[in-house]
Amino acid sequence: MTQDQSAIHIPVLKDEVLEWLKPRPEALYVDGTLGLGGHTQAILEHASSTSRVIGFEWDEEAAAATSRHLAGFGERVQIVRASYADVVPELERMGIVAVDGLIADLGVSSLQLDRAERGFSFRTDNALDMRMDRRKPLTAAALIAQASEDQLADIFYHYGEERQARRIARFIAEARIEAPVVTTGRLAAIVAEAVPRKYHPPKVHVATKVFQALRIAVNGELDNLSRLLATAPQVLAKGARICIITFHSLEDRIVKQAFQQNSAYAVLSKRPIVPSAEEMRRNPRARSAKLRVAERI
Ligand SMILES: C[S@@+](CC[C@H](N)C(=O)[O-])C[C@H]1O[C@@H](n2cnc3c(N)ncnc32)[C@H](O)[C@@H]1O
Repeated sequence: MTQDQSAIHIPVLKDEVLEWLKPRPEALYVDGTLGLGGHTQAILEHASSTSRVIGFEWDEEAAAATSRHLAGFGERVQIVRASYADVVPELERMGIVAVDGLIADLGVSSLQLDRAERGFSFRTDNALDMRMDRRKPLTAAALIAQASEDQLADIFYHYGEERQARRIARFIAEARIEAPVVTTGRLAAIVAEAVPRKYHPPKVHVATKVFQALRIAVNGELDNLSRLLATAPQVLAKGARICIITFHSLEDRIVKQAFQQNSAYAVLSKRPIVPSAEEMRRNPRARSAKLRVAERI
């Protein structure tokens, strides 16, 4: 990320997050997904010079770039290079007992998508990596090599809601006998061949759901989210708010159910909060965003 990229970065549902999180002076917030620092910056600017944010970011590249970008806030920002799923042990390690609010804006950042070598995109031909945290050993290529055909089909079906999951898994299992599937281009081509032409979606690439599913599996995204939601009440002060922005129905369902079923939460957003038409026009990534908010009781 260059200075320019971060300078023009507008976080999704920024005004809505500020409205619901209600950052105030002298308070401490957690940003579970620091990314390019958009929401953290908004909180710090909104809540006078005495509020602080602890930002979790497990991607080294993002953490380093954002640390430079937010340097002007000095000690008001602290970056933790760990998963938000470990928010409880990480805050404990730092000697912090309670925080006044938490935001998580899930998924990949534009920095990760734009860096072809990170292997998230089918638009360029690169190594099939997809790890947000490159300290972890499992790449998408390794997952494709190790998983059985049935396991691959389950991943595509459950995490991608891909109806052609079994057929795609069979084509991959056949292709990997000839040579390991280690590039984004080859995977995209196998998926395009596996799915009958009449089922190719008109507006998006035919491999979109398979790539989403692999990314979720490689990064353990749904497990991380469930762990965050289950443990966050341990570190949220009474009355503190938790704001989660999701980008697909699997995540949204997990958030909705956790907020409803965990008696530590009172649901504040009866329906998910979605971006205005104006925001969706300005920022295509915002189109599928949904914000849900709960309060620690
Ligand atoms: C959509 S971006 C966040 C953008 C940020 N809100 C902003 O406005 O700049 C998501 C970020 O969260 C990070 N991330 C995803 N899952 C994570 C996890 N379990 N722990 C820590 N960071 C995570 C990704 O590496 C990515 O940089």
